Amino acid sequence: MIRIGALISGTGSNLEAVRQACEAGEIDGKIVFAGADKPSAKGLAIAEKAGVPTFVVDYASIIKTFKTSFEKFSLPADFDINQVVAQSRLFEGGVPTDEEIDFFRTRAAAEAGLLSHMAAYSFDLLILAGFMRKLTPYFIDRVNIDPAAPRIMNIHPALLPSFPGTDGYGDTWRYGCKVGGCTVHFVDYGEDTGPIIGQKAFPITPSDTLETVKEKGLQLEWQLYPECIRLFAEGRLKVTTRPYGGAAGETRERRVVNIS
Ligand code: GRF
Repeated sequence: MIRIGALISGTGSNLEAVRQACEAGEIDGKIVFAGADKPSAKGLAIAEKAGVPTFVVDYASIIKTFKTSFEKFSLPADFDINQVVAQSRLFEGGVPTDEEIDFFRTRAAAEAGLLSHMAAYSFDLLILAGFMRKLTPYFIDRVNIDPAAPRIMNIHPALLPSFPGTDGYGDTWRYGCKVGGCTVHFVDYGEDTGPIIGQKAFPITPSDTLETVKEKGLQLEWQLYPECIRLFAEGRLKVTTRPYGGAAGETRERRVVNIS
């Protein structure tokens, strides 16, 4: 049985789908905590009702302290801005802007808060279930103890690599796509760029609205996330490196997930 931790920001419907799949025996697993980035996350109440321990790290208040009462703000002792900037692929390369440096500092402070709550639980897998915050290498490296065996999963509301970011269904809809979908992937140092584990797609017809696109997508998310977590629990996911030739004849590579 695997122990699953979850991070949420919203209604927690994916968390609930995964929890129910565990309870039904479809996943040999158990949700051991649910953490949120804001006290108002509705999913917290759903988790608590199901007996799942919860915690909150209030990102907004940490960011506010940084901006308005810097003397009260503290960085984690083991935070190294140069290392995080060098590793991260959240922003375009080159010299980081002041805003980007501030982003990494405030996120590291919040992520240290997450890590200190999470330290109370042992877990095999961390799932992001509608967690609307970017994670930095500071956090990712402290969860992925073995870089060859990533263990943070995310569900994204679009068919990656199309439409990364916070509004996948909205972007799909506005673009006029005739197919939408959702993707489960391991988290890496970029934004929604990690190795893809599974995807599901649905047709978008002339009678669809943004609302119906979101509804269709969420229905598929509730199937896809448990399926992917089940594969993880069964030890069937392996991340490997796939080399390929670039346009200029150079050798490039990408990390991909092999499913056995
Ligand atoms: C989902 O559409 C997920 O793909 C996105 O945020 C939404 C979260 O929904 N990242 P919920 O909180 O699981 O209900």
